[in-house]
Amino acid sequence: MNLNEIKALKERLANELKKIENICDLEQFRLKYLIRKGEINDLLEDLKGLSLEEKRTFGPALNDFKKTIVSLFEEKKKKIVLSCEECFFDYTAPGKKQEIGSLHPITLITKKILEVFNSFGFEIFETNEVESEYYNFDSLNIAKDHPARDMWDTFWLDKKYVLPLGVKSEKYKAENLLLRTHTSPAQMRYMENHQSPIRMITPGKSFRYEATDARHEFQLHQIEALMIDKDISIANFKSIITDLIRTILEDKSLDVRFRPSYFPFVSPGLEIDVECFKCHGKNKNKHCSLCSNSGYIEMMGAGMVHPNLYKSAKWDSYDYQGFAFGLGVERFAMLRYQIPDIRIFNSGDLRFVKQFKRF
Ligand code: FA5
Repeated sequence: MNLNEIKALKERLANELKKIENICDLEQFRLKYLIRKGEINDLLEDLKGLSLEEKRTFGPALNDFKKTIVSLFEEKKKKIVLSCEECFFDYTAPGKKQEIGSLHPITLITKKILEVFNSFGFEIFETNEVESEYYNFDSLNIAKDHPARDMWDTFWLDKKYVLPLGVKSEKYKAENLLLRTHTSPAQMRYMENHQSPIRMITPGKSFRYEATDARHEFQLHQIEALMIDKDISIANFKSIITDLIRTILEDKSLDVRFRPSYFPFVSPGLEIDVECFKCHGKNKNKHCSLCSNSGYIEMMGAGMVHPNLYKSAKWDSYDYQGFAFGLGVERFAMLRYQIPDIRIFNSGDLRFVKQFKRF
C-alpha cells in the first residue's frame, strides 16, 4: 500500500458513485464498499499489520479516504431519493382512503327477504335458469293450447348451442328449452322430491322477451315461495305477506292491496299491489310513468296451489293444501329505496350502486 494507491482508489470510487443513477445500484455500492465487512473496512483492517511509523502515514490517509467516500455516498443518496417519487415516502401525508365495495340493492333486498323467510322456517332451494318447456309451462297446468301460455313472451333456446354447455339429461335432449319466464318451475321441481309439510323459497333470475319501461325489465329477479300443509289457508298467506311488506318497505303509510287475479297453477289466484310512492294515484292530470296512473305498483302474483299440481307431482291432492307466490325483487327494491325507474338497476352506474351500503 502507498499513498498514491489510496488516492487512486478514492478517485475510482468517487467516479463510480458519480455514475450511479438509481437506488438499486447505490445499494450495491454500499454492500460492496461500505458495510462492516466491505472493502473499505478491509483496507482499514490491513493497518493492524503495519509498523507504528507506517500507521502514522497511512492511518490519516485511509480515514480521510473513508470519510470522503461516505460523505459522497450520502450526498448521492439524498439526490436520488429526492428525485425519485417511488422511493419517497412522506410519513406525514394523510392515508389513502380504501374504497369499500357495497352490495347491489337487488342483493340487499333478496338477502333480507330470504332472512325473513328463513326465520319462518322456509328452506332455500335454487333451480335452473335454463328450463324445459315442461317445467316452465306444462307441469304448471298451462296446457299446450291454453291462452295463458301467451302471457309471457319467451326466450326459446336453440338446443344446438345449449346442450354442449352441459345440459346432459336425456330428457332435456327431447324437450324444448327456454330461459325460464318465472321462478314457478321451482314449485314442481321441489314437489317432485318432497312431501308435505313444505316450506320452500326460491330466489333467482327470470327472463321475458318484452320491451322495457319504468317498471319492466327483460331480465328480472323473482322470489318464489311454496307452503303446503294439512290446513294452510289464504289467511296464513295474507299474514306472512303483510308482515314481509311492512318489514321490507318500512313505510307503514303505503296502502297494500290484495286483488283477485288468474294464474293457471293456482286457484283462487290473486295479485298484491302497493300504493305508488311517486304519485299515490292522486295526480290524475299528470302522467305517472311508474304506475301508469293506476296509483298502485304490482308486487307479486299468488294463490292456493292448484289441485292439478299435486297430480303432476304424483301427490294425493285431497290431503293437503297450500299457497304459492312469486314476487318481483326489483319492485320491492324500488319501493324500499324510492327508485322511480327499474332500468337503473342494470345501468352499471357506480353513482347509483354506491349509495346502498346496507339494507
Ligand atoms: C308470475 O311470474 C307468477 N309466476 C307468479 C306466481 C307465483 C303466481 C306463484 C301464483 C303463484 P307475474 O308475471 O305477475 O307472475 O310476475 C310476478 C311479479 O314479478 C310481478 O308482480 C312483478 O312484481 C314482477 N315482474 C313481472 N314482470 C316483470 C318485469 N318485466 N320486470 C320487472 N318485474 C316484473
